[in-house]
Amino acid sequence: MSPPLPPGPRGLDSARFVLKTASDFMEPLCQMASDYGQVAATQARGRLIVSISSAEAARHILVTNQDSYGKGIEYELLRIVLGDGLLTSEGEVWRRQRKLVQPMFAKRHLGDFTGHMTSATADALDGSLLGTLRDGEMVDVNRLMMELTLDIVGRALFGADLSGGTAARVGPAMNDVLTLGTRMARRLPTYAASMLPGMNLRKAIALNPEGRRFQRSLDELKMVIDEVLLERSALGNPGDDLLGLLLSARDEDTGEAMSREQIGDELMTFMLAGHETTSNALSWTWRHLSLNPAARQRLFEEVDSAIGDRVPTMADMDLLPWTRACVEEAMRVTPPVWMVGRKSLVDDEVAGFRIPAGSSLMILITMIHRDPDLWPNPEGYDPERFLPENSKGRRKQSYMPFGAGRRVCVGSSFAIIEATLLAAMISRRLAFNLPRGATFDADSAITQRPRNGLAMSVHHRAVSESIRQSPGEALVG
Ligand code: HEM
Repeated sequence: MSPPLPPGPRGLDSARFVLKTASDFMEPLCQMASDYGQVAATQARGRLIVSISSAEAARHILVTNQDSYGKGIEYELLRIVLGDGLLTSEGEVWRRQRKLVQPMFAKRHLGDFTGHMTSATADALDGSLLGTLRDGEMVDVNRLMMELTLDIVGRALFGADLSGGTAARVGPAMNDVLTLGTRMARRLPTYAASMLPGMNLRKAIALNPEGRRFQRSLDELKMVIDEVLLERSALGNPGDDLLGLLLSARDEDTGEAMSREQIGDELMTFMLAGHETTSNALSWTWRHLSLNPAARQRLFEEVDSAIGDRVPTMADMDLLPWTRACVEEAMRVTPPVWMVGRKSLVDDEVAGFRIPAGSSLMILITMIHRDPDLWPNPEGYDPERFLPENSKGRRKQSYMPFGAGRRVCVGSSFAIIEATLLAAMISRRLAFNLPRGATFDADSAITQRPRNGLAMSVHHRAVSESIRQSPGEALVG
């Protein structure tokens, strides 16, 4: 006898689930997982939607039995934006690209990238982004982090400072692509239209005004990439930034270089995958630190003694275990990528349940990170968990902000170094406090980010010495 389908909403409850997913995906999926168990499913949009919230089941899908799964339906939208870049490609194209791209994130290159991260942050602290903020001023911390991480990814990719005129074009365009794109793909009429004969998601999106704005923003991003590629070809020297590495990369077996189109797709992938995620990790870190003054105080003490006013290097990562733990714990409680999606390519069995071919599996990183069987006091922000001595023997896939298996994030070391060093450099000078009564409000599209920005007040540590003793929220009037 074949195993049963996973339990979950049926009939009217299933229809209610579908309606709810039109405005938000995270809440209904997490609710289904809470109500029906760690492997739950409902019929929606013509297929079985399965929520996965156990580390073991996630391991089965992403690692041990990964050949039976492909990228999920959410990637259809990303594919419009990222083409055949590393995040969205599959099969042989992905295998070839991963082999070429992975070495670009090896330790020897990370040293150069770290230089870009710290110089961009030093410029921000001395310049108009962070240097001119007044003590007590309210700012949108998420916007500041977005601008800074965009500058960094621009420098790492192109060796160029993207914070000027080009960033002014890239930032808003990227924002449109991310937010409008997901909003439209989620909308039931768009989705229904995409299923009609002769239609696809791209055509369905173009049917409404937001869709046209999405397309314009995407064209703008592609234009920036074309301009950068043209400029680089004119130089006649590939350069030693990520773009240079992409231009010089050769397939081990065939000796072939990447096509211009493939390089464009990878640049777009790095720009998108590498900037918003890290910025959200930092924004959530500032939020948690504001609510946990003892953790923040310990961070201040660590950065004051470990780096002082020096510009840190990659070697300083070993001197910043607490700062790193603060970032890692923030990514546990509020993972920037809250879910990874897969599609079952064949019939499979997960945790004793039948998963028919063609099902959509949503691996809820956010639920796994708060599983009380894996994490004592799961809702509490406690960076102690991530100190090296406490990290040993952790159950596999209990912590997976960067995914798992062969599709694991290629930029994970880049991101951890970036978030840690930025948190250290910024904390040396500034602290951010949440206003009294601020509630948690996240927009969980592709990534989990603060909805409508993250308003916090700035405090100059040199001015607000009292910050050392007082809880974050009490400082804000
Ligand atoms: C805190 C920051 C980051 C988070 C939370 C994050 C998260 C993730 C996750 C969960 C995946 C797996 C997706 C899946 O399995 O479907 C992924 C893949 C990927 N990430 Fe990241 N990422 C971050 C930063 C970066 C950076 C800085 C870069 C590049 C500069 C990057 C580039 C990529 C690429 C290219 C992939 C696709 C890898 C493949 O499929 O071979 N990410 N990321």
